[in-house]
Amino acid sequence: MSRIAYVDGAYVAHAAAAVHIEDRGNQFADAVYEVWSVKDGALMDSDGHFTRLSRSLRELRIREPMDRRVLACVLFEMVRRNRLRDGLIYLQISRGRARRDHAFPSPEVKPTVIVTAKRGDPAAAEAKAQAGIRVITLPDLRWARRDIKTVSLLPNALAKQAAKEAGAQEAWLVGADGFITEGTASNAWILTADGALVTRMASEAILNGVTRLALLQVAREEGLRIEERPFTVAEAMAASEAFVTSASSALTAVVSIDGQKIGAGAPGPLAKRLRHAYLAGAASNVAAQKPRPSAPLVARRARARIG
Ligand code: PDD
Repeated sequence: MSRIAYVDGAYVAHAAAAVHIEDRGNQFADAVYEVWSVKDGALMDSDGHFTRLSRSLRELRIREPMDRRVLACVLFEMVRRNRLRDGLIYLQISRGRARRDHAFPSPEVKPTVIVTAKRGDPAAAEAKAQAGIRVITLPDLRWARRDIKTVSLLPNALAKQAAKEAGAQEAWLVGADGFITEGTASNAWILTADGALVTRMASEAILNGVTRLALLQVAREEGLRIEERPFTVAEAMAASEAFVTSASSALTAVVSIDGQKIGAGAPGPLAKRLRHAYLAGAASNVAAQKPRPSAPLVARRARARIG
């Protein structure tokens, strides 16, 4: 089955999908995006991603291209057309297409909306979670508004490539003050030796992960001691556990930082428990999200089977 993409109101073959060369997303990274994990054909943490999308658009004064409910229909339609059970839905909204000029184009210019779907491999994702990931630390070279989910990801891409070349799977970015901000595409967490679960508080310094927020809720329900504050590389190295969260990986344990083992050098008990609790919670939300067939429909289907 061929992949389908959505570009400005049309469902088109992924291989032929294109935006104009003077799209501002292309020329100025003047665009925002969101990534939803799809599990069992449903969007995980759906509302959280829509809420953050609206915020990113507002912060950059890009107009909402369509009502949230209509946009949700487009995303579900992409899941359906791509027969996606497990994978990712990527949405990008740019300020639109206009003759190149740094200042904003006229308000009549329509935002460009693109959506793509990517099939996942649940078995490979589970194997990665079981093994945990290695992390390196690098200077954070990004701009000062990391709370906005823009497609301006060059420093993130460079750091991720450096991690790959160092035999690691993620880089934790470190500010000039010596405190870790977050990963290139994930939020950073540690469990201190005295049992505090620490993750940096939401601010302009980090992207406030939707998975981060969902996991904070899980941790609160578990009665854990939570500290939302910055932490240094030295504190992370001394932690008994460390992990990352993101829509694409849920929760993944960090087994080493800059080559130094964290805890026993394998996913720790808290990371395992929280991953399980987060996925179980997300699965039950997903089940609640699925449209139940109405009684007449069920009766009609039953009649069709009998007939
Ligand atoms: N990345 N921090 C950064 C810099 C990110 O790019 C991401 C997400 C996160 C975690 O956010 P969330 O839990 O809402 O996914 C934190 C996505 C998955 C990506 O770029 O593919």
